[in-house]
Amino acid sequence: MRIGAVLLFVLVGLGALRAPAAAQDKPVVAVVGTGNLAGSLGPALGRAGYAVVYGSRTPARDSLRALVARSGPKASAATNPQAVARAQIVVLAVPAEVVEQVSDGLALDGKIVLDVSGGRKRVAADGYLELVSDTAHAERIQARHPSARVVRISLPSIAFLANPQLVGTPPSVLVAGNSPSAREAIARVLFDLGLDPHDAGPLRFARVIDALSLVGQIPGQQRRAELYDLKMLPSTPWSCFFDAVAAFGYGRPYDLDSLPRFPRRDPVTSCDEWRRRVRF
Ligand SMILES: NC(=O)c1ccc[n+]([C@@H]2O[C@H](COP(=O)([O-])OP(=O)(O)OC[C@H]3O[C@@H](n4cnc5c(N)ncnc54)[C@H](OP(=O)(O)O)[C@@H]3O)[C@@H](O)[C@H]2O)c1
Repeated sequence: MRIGAVLLFVLVGLGALRAPAAAQDKPVVAVVGTGNLAGSLGPALGRAGYAVVYGSRTPARDSLRALVARSGPKASAATNPQAVARAQIVVLAVPAEVVEQVSDGLALDGKIVLDVSGGRKRVAADGYLELVSDTAHAERIQARHPSARVVRISLPSIAFLANPQLVGTPPSVLVAGNSPSAREAIARVLFDLGLDPHDAGPLRFARVIDALSLVGQIPGQQRRAELYDLKMLPSTPWSCFFDAVAAFGYGRPYDLDSLPRFPRRDPVTSCDEWRRRVRF
C-alpha cells in the first residue's frame, strides 16, 4: 500500500514535470491581421495550447481585446512588427490583395511564414474563375524574404477550425514549402488543431494548391447545395509491388534524406497487408 502510494506520487510528479516542458515546446504563433481567419484560427490555436500574439494596425481596440480574451491564457496583441518579433511562426491572415505588401513591412528572417492566400484570379470567358499568375503569393513572398521559410497550405473552410469533426472526419491540409523542417513544424500545428496534414513538397506546389482552391469553388459558382473540402485517403504503395522509382522515372528529391515527419492519426499499413488486400 505504502509502496503503491510512493509510486503514484513519483508518477504524478514526473507527469507534472513533463507537462510544462511539452507546453513550452509549442512555438509562439503570430497571427498578422485580425479579421475572419484570425477570429477562427487564433482561438483554435489557443485551445490547442499555443501562445497566440495577434498583429494589428490597431492593437489596443476593444474588439481585439475580446478576441484575445477568447484565445487562451497566453494570448496577446501587439503591432504587426512587435507580434512578428515575438513569434517563431507567422501566419499572414490579411487579405490576399495586400499579403505581399504587408509582408514587406515585416522582419521575417528566420521565421516560418504561413501563407493561406489564394492565387490572383478573375472570371474567365466561360464564367468560371481562372488564375492569372504563373506563380503563387507564397513563392513571391519567399522571393522577397529569402531568409524566411515560407509554407503554403490548403486551408479548409474555417468552419473546420472551430470544429475539425464537423463532418465526422477532419479535412486534409496540403503543406508545401522548401524547408522540410518548416513543413514539419506547420504539420504539427495543423495536427494539434485536429486537422490532417499531408506533405505537398516544395513551395512551387503552392501553385497546385492555388488551382485546387479554384476547383473547390466550382460548386459555389454553380450554386450547388454543398461545397467540398479535401480528404486524402491512404493509397496503394506501388513500391510494395514493383520498382516504382525505376518504372516511373522518379528523380531524387532534394530532401529525401531529411523528409519532414508528419504526424498522423492512423498507423501506416504494412506492405504485407497491402499485398494481401490488393487484387489486380
Ligand atoms: N479557408 C477559409 O475558409 C478562409 C476564410 C476566410 C479567409 N481566408 C483567407 O485568409 C486570409 C485573410 O482573410 P480574412 O477574411 O481574414 O481577411 P479580412 O477579414 O478582410 O482582413 C484580415 C485583417 O487584415 C488586416 N488588414 C486588412 N487590410 C489591411 C491592409 N491594407 N494592410 C494591413 N493589414 C490589413 C486587418 O487587421 P487589422 O485591422 O487588425 O490590422 C483585417 O482585419 C485571406 O488570404 C483569405 O483568403 C480563408
